[in-house]
Amino acid sequence: MADLLASVEEKRRVFLEELKTAEEKASSPTGLPPVDVRALHVRWLGQKQGVVTELLAGLRTLSKEDKAPAGAAINRLKNDVEAALSSLEEKSLLFERLRKQQALAVDVTLPPRAPRVGRLHPLTVVRRRIESAFASLGYEVAEGPEVESDWLNFEALNFPPDHPARDAVDTFFVKGGGEGKDRLLLRTHTSPVQIRTMLAQKPPIRIVIPGRVYRKDDIDPRHSPVFHQMEGLTVDEGVTFANLKGTLAAFSRLLFTPETKIRFGPTFFPFVEPGVDVAVSCVFCSGTGAADGATCRPCSGSGWIEIMGAGMVHPNVLRNGGIDPEKYSGFAFGMGIDRIAFLLYGVPDLRLFFENDVRFLDRVWS
Ligand code: DAH
Repeated sequence: MADLLASVEEKRRVFLEELKTAEEKASSPTGLPPVDVRALHVRWLGQKQGVVTELLAGLRTLSKEDKAPAGAAINRLKNDVEAALSSLEEKSLLFERLRKQQALAVDVTLPPRAPRVGRLHPLTVVRRRIESAFASLGYEVAEGPEVESDWLNFEALNFPPDHPARDAVDTFFVKGGGEGKDRLLLRTHTSPVQIRTMLAQKPPIRIVIPGRVYRKDDIDPRHSPVFHQMEGLTVDEGVTFANLKGTLAAFSRLLFTPETKIRFGPTFFPFVEPGVDVAVSCVFCSGTGAADGATCRPCSGSGWIEIMGAGMVHPNVLRNGGIDPEKYSGFAFGMGIDRIAFLLYGVPDLRLFFENDVRFLDRVWS
């Protein structure tokens, strides 16, 4: 009898150890598989070779008086094992549920994913830089349509009827765009907005005009059928060639570096007289003509890079804009925004601006 009671206590100790191990496993990240709970059940309470069942079988060997207390002890163990295993099963299911929830849960301590921020197109950045340089010199921004009349694009700007730019080979004419004065085309430059502005407002006029322009050019690294220009127009009383030069010199220093110089060369545009080609000291070699001991390629070693056309507004153009050339004078200029972008960023191929490859666009342009 004493042996049996001692054995019951020993089994209880073993059970508690096994229970502890199982509980630890239930709360661990791997969890306690339901088969393990079943195995414990079979091992302790199984009908055939369960530990408790075998203890009960041992009662047979005891005397009548010993049976009652020994039986009570074994039953206590049996009840305790039953209760412990059913609570183990519940706990292990609960932990399983918690693990699943955690897997789905949001970890609020993780750093957030950086949002994908869009960027301005490099040509937009350059346009704004040119605009703000002129804004600081007192200029406003004006715009005009991309489908323009033949009259405003050519005629009013003093183009003679046989000028090569008026050839269908060079210009996109709009089908069904009418005859004579009503003929429509995709503007070949931003200059027609000079006339539009003069017709709409009286001097003093100080405007810059950004916009898309179109020419029948094949695409190559330096040509595109669509590109961008920035036009400028100043009309007032007593505007001189010196004002033109001073304005463009100030602009070039603002846009490039304070050391930038400008150079005028004579040329012809029908809407100005005199007309000039404007060059700036080369931004790649600081005007020295040499870079890394070799001839500077962008300026071909000359130290100068042409950036725009300019001149004093032709009296016929002022007249076509409804302005009296006896009273007023003015100057105008026009540059390629894409070309300025090449000078500011060294982008060697115009096509990069139009292909919209994000690997190119994603860079920081400033
Ligand atoms: N419109 C000319 C072009 O597209 C550029 C230009 C030259 C504009 C001289 C002007 C100017 O206003 O005065 O080539």
